[in-house]
Amino acid sequence: MTIKPVFADATPIGPLPDDQTFLDDVVSGFSAFRKSLPAKYFYDAAGSDLFEAITRLPEYYPTRTELGILDAAGPEIAALLPRAATLVEFGSGSTVKVRRLLRHLPDLGAYVPVDVSESFLRSEADVLRADHPSLRIEPVAADFTRPFALPDGLSGGDVAGFFPGSTIGNFEPAEARRLLAQFGEILGSGARLIVGVDLVKDRAVLEAAYDDAAGVTAAFNLNLLTRINRELGGDFAAGGFVHRALFNEAESRIEMHLVSTRAQTVRVGGLPFRFADGETIHTENSYKYTVPGFRALAASAGWAPGAVWTDPQALFSVHALERV
Ligand code: TRP
Repeated sequence: MTIKPVFADATPIGPLPDDQTFLDDVVSGFSAFRKSLPAKYFYDAAGSDLFEAITRLPEYYPTRTELGILDAAGPEIAALLPRAATLVEFGSGSTVKVRRLLRHLPDLGAYVPVDVSESFLRSEADVLRADHPSLRIEPVAADFTRPFALPDGLSGGDVAGFFPGSTIGNFEPAEARRLLAQFGEILGSGARLIVGVDLVKDRAVLEAAYDDAAGVTAAFNLNLLTRINRELGGDFAAGGFVHRALFNEAESRIEMHLVSTRAQTVRVGGLPFRFADGETIHTENSYKYTVPGFRALAASAGWAPGAVWTDPQALFSVHALERV
């Protein structure tokens, strides 16, 4: 079978945003009273490699904990999905996680990985096909935060979604609700959705996961500035900013910032931006939910919460939802 990416209609997509968009986003982020940068710019080639390294860090518990839950709950999750279902993964990235489900889904009708990076999507689909020669794989190159269509012939029958990695936590709760509702529109009524959600826990455990001893998360965060220097002709100096991760308990989120180590002016695209000593650039949020808190969010987005699986230490959760 040939792997043919399907392009969503009227959706500006591509492996990387163009430079003008990047510059516009940096200028508007740095012009705000509280400076910020969109998290999507983390993932250039270096950033993607650093992110893979984060998932293997001793302090970064989410990835291995979620994989453990998927292994333990695999048969139960599989039992909830209709036979011959189409499984749609939002933001598929590497196929490590879905493989844990596929081994329990011998009769799956089709697997639809959805990712913005078309080249990555193709190469991952090829690797997966080698291991699952009889599985129908229909990659869709799309930004899953925008509406997109499922491939022809797959939108009708039983459809299930898979959204692991606590990626839902990287959206503000109102945006997360909108996204879950949009997944419901794409998958259709009666669909199931399997979502991985990181849980609220001790501050020290949370903060260590986003500020590891080896400095990999720091390098990942600081890579944004390297990228601005390289792609937009910025002049961020080495040592001018440091990484900081803190748990904002009132908002129930980990915040990642880049903190200016001194008063300084940095030029990007010919424009000067002034940073006070200690001023921060907010680069990412990772919201943490309680199990009832996430179930309530899902319900408010048109999904009936079903089974929930957690690890013995209740670090992470995997939720089954059903579209009502
Ligand atoms: N969604 C995961 C999390 O919030 C992975 C992730 C997204 C992440 N952005 C990140 C991890 C930035 C570390 C730093 O944990």
